[in-house]
Amino acid sequence: MEKTFVIAKPDAVQRGLIGEIISRLERRGLKLVAAKMMQVSPELASQHYAVHAGKPFYNGLIKYITSAPVMIMVWEGPNAVEAVRQTMGATKPTEAAPGTIRHDYAVEISRNLTHASDSSETAEKEIMLWFSKEEICTWDRTIEDWITGKN
Ligand code: CMP
Repeated sequence: MEKTFVIAKPDAVQRGLIGEIISRLERRGLKLVAAKMMQVSPELASQHYAVHAGKPFYNGLIKYITSAPVMIMVWEGPNAVEAVRQTMGATKPTEAAPGTIRHDYAVEISRNLTHASDSSETAEKEIMLWFSKEEICTWDRTIEDWITGKN
């Protein structure tokens, strides 16, 4: 099963939207296998967002992600990367489809509530950067077949 990495960013935590984000992903049928509340250091932020270094929004992005605690998570499921990104909606909230988290709760790209890995390869790297192996909890859902079963 594919895994993906999600951050409920400082604005999501401050606005009391952690539960909403978790709830939507749970209801979708994805499985939560790791979660941790933390204050992000500038070093970790710059490693995570290395691909954006030098871009006009980079300094603001680092300031934003390190400004207050975040909740980081690993979610598992078939095509988890694509499914989670679909539930989040487009990076720019005013381009996000109605019914997505960013459409329903955000209006600014600089306060877009969540991060979700953009590919399976990125997800693997991001999970290794943010979590230790021991923090990933492998568990079975008794109703798995009712969610991910194939006929
Ligand atoms: P995220 O999915 O975490 O990946 C990179 C982040 O950079 C993105 O979400 C936004 O929070 C931020 N970002 C991307 N483009 C811009 C922009 N043009 N202005 C401000 N922030 C941006």
